[in-house]
Amino acid sequence: MDQFSPIGVFDSGVGGFTVARQVRRLMPNEDIVYYGDSANMPYGSRATDDILHLARQILSYLATRRVKVAAVACNTISTLINYYRNDYPFKIFSVIEAGAASVGDLDADCVGVIGTPVTVKSKAYDRLIRGIRPDMKVVSAPCPLLSTYVDAGDLRPEVVDPELKTAVDSILAEAPVKHLILGCTHYPLVSEHLNRLYPGIELIDPGIEQARMIKSYLSDNDLLRDDGNHGTVELNTSGNPAQYAESAPRFGLSAPSAINKLIVTKPL
Ligand code: DGL
Repeated sequence: MDQFSPIGVFDSGVGGFTVARQVRRLMPNEDIVYYGDSANMPYGSRATDDILHLARQILSYLATRRVKVAAVACNTISTLINYYRNDYPFKIFSVIEAGAASVGDLDADCVGVIGTPVTVKSKAYDRLIRGIRPDMKVVSAPCPLLSTYVDAGDLRPEVVDPELKTAVDSILAEAPVKHLILGCTHYPLVSEHLNRLYPGIELIDPGIEQARMIKSYLSDNDLLRDDGNHGTVELNTSGNPAQYAESAPRFGLSAPSAINKLIVTKPL
């Protein structure tokens, strides 16, 4: 692989577009190969073995595409990164490590996290944040159905708000958080809902830091593309390509170069 190789980005569904758009914003010369496993989402309530089995199949596919790095845009898959991060010939970036790093300099002693049931139960954010900021209290709560609504494009307040309110109110009952990590790639799509419901809370999108970490790694290893290429975004999904075409602009990804139906995953 070399600087002309693409960057791989993958997720259980369309949520990883929120990471792809940050990669694009920060590294406009790079080509992106995206895989979203919408046929098998939500991952956030699957068993560990199943999540790992699915993730490995996607990573093997990205290896055939000779990616130079892979962004695990999915928080749920990132909770298991230590099981697979050394098994592929490219560096793999966890969105949770990025999310934890982005609270390092925060002027606060507590932070909230919302995510899938698997992510919250794993306590991966708690562990990683405490490693960086032992003084920080981390309070997490799940939104069990939210990613499914977002993946299907259903952002109606009467559908989304109750999920958000149950989770965030339970966090606020434990600590007066002023910062909330969006610990699922699908959640930046409901930022407006959260800003309306909780105007005093600042939202943290880990995808921003993940893209920054990738850029810094590529730059340090002479892999950053600097040839004036107009970067492309190729979207691949086990789900419905028409829905991906419809969702891409909403997630800030306009004009993908291709949208393909591609099944590389089979659950256990
Ligand atoms: N996008 C996944 C994440 O960041 C959640 C969606 C799902 O449950 O599949 O955790």
